[in-house]
Amino acid sequence: MKKAFITGITGQDGSYLAEFLLDKGYEVHGLTRRTSTQNFNRIDHIIDNPNLHLVSGDLIDQHSLTQALRDIKPDEVYNLAAQSFVQTSWEQPVLTGEFTAIGVTRMLEAVKLACPETKFYQASSSEMFGKVQEVPQNEKTPFYPRSPYGVAKVYGHWITVNYRESFNIFAVSGLLFNHESPRRGLEFVTRKISHGIARVKLGLQDKVYLGNLDSKRDWGFAGDYVEAMWLMLQQDKPEDFVIATGQTHSVKDFLVKACEVAGIDNWQKVVEVDPQYMRPAEVDLLIGDASKAKKKLGWEPKTSFDELVKMMVEADLAEQSKNK
Ligand code: NAP
Ligand code: GDD
Repeated sequence: MKKAFITGITGQDGSYLAEFLLDKGYEVHGLTRRTSTQNFNRIDHIIDNPNLHLVSGDLIDQHSLTQALRDIKPDEVYNLAAQSFVQTSWEQPVLTGEFTAIGVTRMLEAVKLACPETKFYQASSSEMFGKVQEVPQNEKTPFYPRSPYGVAKVYGHWITVNYRESFNIFAVSGLLFNHESPRRGLEFVTRKISHGIARVKLGLQDKVYLGNLDSKRDWGFAGDYVEAMWLMLQQDKPEDFVIATGQTHSVKDFLVKACEVAGIDNWQKVVEVDPQYMRPAEVDLLIGDASKAKKKLGWEPKTSFDELVKMMVEADLAEQSKNK
């Protein structure tokens, strides 16, 4: 039985990846941090699986990471934990650097010390392309991050490449474009829209307050993207890959589609722009070229933009109708 270790197992991607690996017959170990109230809602449905084990630790605590890997000796490590919300990275830039940048070095050190044969996946991001230097973005596109989060992810990417080249660790960086799901955190724009529009439709609130409606993102489904993470670790040699749909849509497009799914005729009536959600520096356009992943991993997205919006709005309508 293969063993996987996932940091960030309580997050959106961690929960889908844990499900995916359990289905493949893996023994899955997930790192969770101590909080005053437990935060296992995304993994509640798999918590009793005898092949799922949780271990306490934190990206800021080197000892907990090294000890966990010494005890478990996993075949594969997926480093998904991070301070992942771009807006917060301007309010907490130092903490974002600690978790999202230096946290990667701590994980790589733990691998180097405890299990250097382990394959390592780093959750890198299209935010690294920021003010994009070419369209679409591929593995060779230069980075130009536009937030403390983006800057931290660029560090995480290069330290992963460096440990691969310095210590011969099988370490890969997945350059994933935005991916969403009904399990997305409520602060991210897609879920904020699906959740808000469902509540408007059900008469639980009047409006949704948003920031920049014009920025464009390449949005895919998280369930499709975790397969790509796994595929990267099944290759003979470690390489970095862009994972994206190749389609881009504006925040407004997402909103209009969400209203259509919910049966709201006039989207302008239910939305207001609130300057507090505008960013000090914006990433205006992301669109990825995942042709390398298609060629070498045989990976392609399965879920379209329309299917994604429908899935999210319908899930929130079902959930929120319990509050009526
Ligand atoms: P998420 O839902 O915000 O989950 C983040 C996870 O990290 C949570 O499990 C969180 O634990 C954990 N975490 C945060 N700080 C930690 C610390 N100091 N020590 C240990 N665990 C910590 O994020 P996601 O959307 O699943 O994304 C997964 C990864 O992919 C992140 O690194 C993100 O930056 C990256 N990424 C995401 C996307 C996307 O579109 N979703 C695209 C590209 C890259 P708690 O539950 O305790 O908070
Ligand atoms: N969150 C949020 N809230 N964003 C808004 C809002 C709002 O009310 N109104 C407009 N937006 C715009 C943002 O300005 C941004 O241009 C876009 O919606 C997407 O914002 P988020 O959903 O917060 O995602 P993100 O693109 O900044 O970051 C996500 O994707 C990255 C990959 O490119 C996160 O998942 C990152 O962790 C990930 O690396």
